[in-house]
Amino acid sequence: MNRQKIENWLREENPKRLEELWQMADAVRQENVGNEVHLRGLLEISNYCVRKCAYCGINVDNNAISRYRMTRDEILECAQKAVSFGYGTLVIQSGEDYGLTREFIADIVNYVKDKTPLAVTLSLGERSFEDLKHWRACGADRYLLRFETSNSDLYKFIHPPFSSENFRRDRFVILNELKQLGYEIGSGVMIGIPGQTFAMLAEDILRFCELDLDMIGVGPYISHPATRLAASLKNVAANEDQVPNSEEMTYKVVALTRLICPQANIPSTTALATLNTVNGRELGLMRGANVVMPNLTPPEYRVKYEIYPNKACVSETAEQCQECLHLRIAAMGRKIGKGKGSRVRG
Ligand code: 5AD
Ligand code: FES
Repeated sequence: MNRQKIENWLREENPKRLEELWQMADAVRQENVGNEVHLRGLLEISNYCVRKCAYCGINVDNNAISRYRMTRDEILECAQKAVSFGYGTLVIQSGEDYGLTREFIADIVNYVKDKTPLAVTLSLGERSFEDLKHWRACGADRYLLRFETSNSDLYKFIHPPFSSENFRRDRFVILNELKQLGYEIGSGVMIGIPGQTFAMLAEDILRFCELDLDMIGVGPYISHPATRLAASLKNVAANEDQVPNSEEMTYKVVALTRLICPQANIPSTTALATLNTVNGRELGLMRGANVVMPNLTPPEYRVKYEIYPNKACVSETAEQCQECLHLRIAAMGRKIGKGKGSRVRG
């Protein structure tokens, strides 16, 4: 599929044609990654962040939230929970928090890899090459770093640089480093960022393919009041090229991503479940996705990891999410994946 075709699909509004798109994506999903839904337990270990992302509620300038960093014992207890729930993977996520030192993370990775059968996915922001290398040597399996948008002007606006020019490396460079280090790599974008056009989003989807991503996570942009983007865009009128941050647009991107990257692991994301709490996650799974990331974060911390408002599952416990997802997946006639659920190359 070329850029124009992708863009045409993104602009498609005919329900019959969209039904065809969902069915094609579902068939390609079934054929390439099967009926299993892999569960990745998501643990949000710190909401400290040094960055000033214009979209994100835990940006450093948000003084209205209280910050937390989980202790080693708390983290390891949650890892044990992931095992007892039958999850194949522990995803360790945080803001870009240098209070989480190289050694601290290394110790966690060593422990989990030593004492449990879990795959370990890290999602800790734009850390140094040395950090990434060390954690890989400790056995970390995967790394998630969304590029958010492939348009460099839009990216510069929503994601101002942190370190000095000399040390700065963009997310495509980091993704490439991660790949060289032997990580499975995951990336993705937000859908409907103010200023994001259909052409840009079509380009993003082509990038997924070029980067040969193992995991691709996409979700709607959801405005958070304590962000620059919410503040600066009140007066800007949307035009016909602006991608809507809608539920339907998210399904289109999930479906097209499946068609273009048939073997990738694609989650039905929490942001999607936030737009449609009734069955958003299920519809994602029926339109291309094959992964779900149940939240493992203890409730007292979960409420503080507010990257966008009204996040699905904020008031649930790890046990509730585990049970909820088992029921939902069974009700769809899909199976829970066994083992690590690594990317399979055919
Ligand atoms: N709306 C939707 N997604 C968001 N993310 C961060 N802030 C928001 C928001 N306001 C996504 C980004 C980031 C991932 C962890 O969460 O894509 O990479
Ligand atoms: Fe958390 Fe359903 S997944 S309550």
